[in-house]
Amino acid sequence: MKELSEVISPGEISAAVRRLGAEINRDYAGRGILAVCVLNGSFIFFSDLIRELTTPVEADFLKVRSYASTKSSGDVEVDCWLKTDIKGKDVLIVEDIVDTGLTLSVIIQRLKADNPKTLKVCALLDKRAGRKAEINPDYTGFLVDDHFLVGYGLDLDGHYRNLRGVCKVRPPGLKFP
Ligand code: IMP
Repeated sequence: MKELSEVISPGEISAAVRRLGAEINRDYAGRGILAVCVLNGSFIFFSDLIRELTTPVEADFLKVRSYASTKSSGDVEVDCWLKTDIKGKDVLIVEDIVDTGLTLSVIIQRLKADNPKTLKVCALLDKRAGRKAEINPDYTGFLVDDHFLVGYGLDLDGHYRNLRGVCKVRPPGLKFP
């Protein structure tokens, strides 16, 4: 059985989400945002974050897969793409965690081809040590160490997404339990 140790508490997450919301409200004052939820992992962060926003928000969703083993391969498969025309819009990608950055770089490349007015990234967690692509989120909740994390939307084998805090899994391994 895996042991979980909490590295970010629910209270710390709430405070970070409020801070990120305030930063975004300040930067986008008087403008609308098309907020893009990168499924699956971002669904809880996304729903908390957009409720902090006071500018007009359109929400859309995309779903990609890239995390076949312990590290993203960069071979991103698109399961579901946006339904909204993003041309001329202020687009904010909302991601749970950036590790290698390969997933986001593919998403960004594809979105840029549709000519948004602006394109920014808000990531709850930034595992900077794992970076392989040049991705620097415009808004970051927490810098985290290079551990496999679960909770608040992040999963291990489809489990633990419902945990209120973010936890480190011990021993490391990609199988539940
Ligand atoms: P990247 O392409 O390596 O940046 O990986 C991005 C995706 O991998 C994230 O959106 C997550 O779905 C997944 N991922 C990366 N690190 C973790 C982790 O520690 N726990 C759970 N999922 C992770």
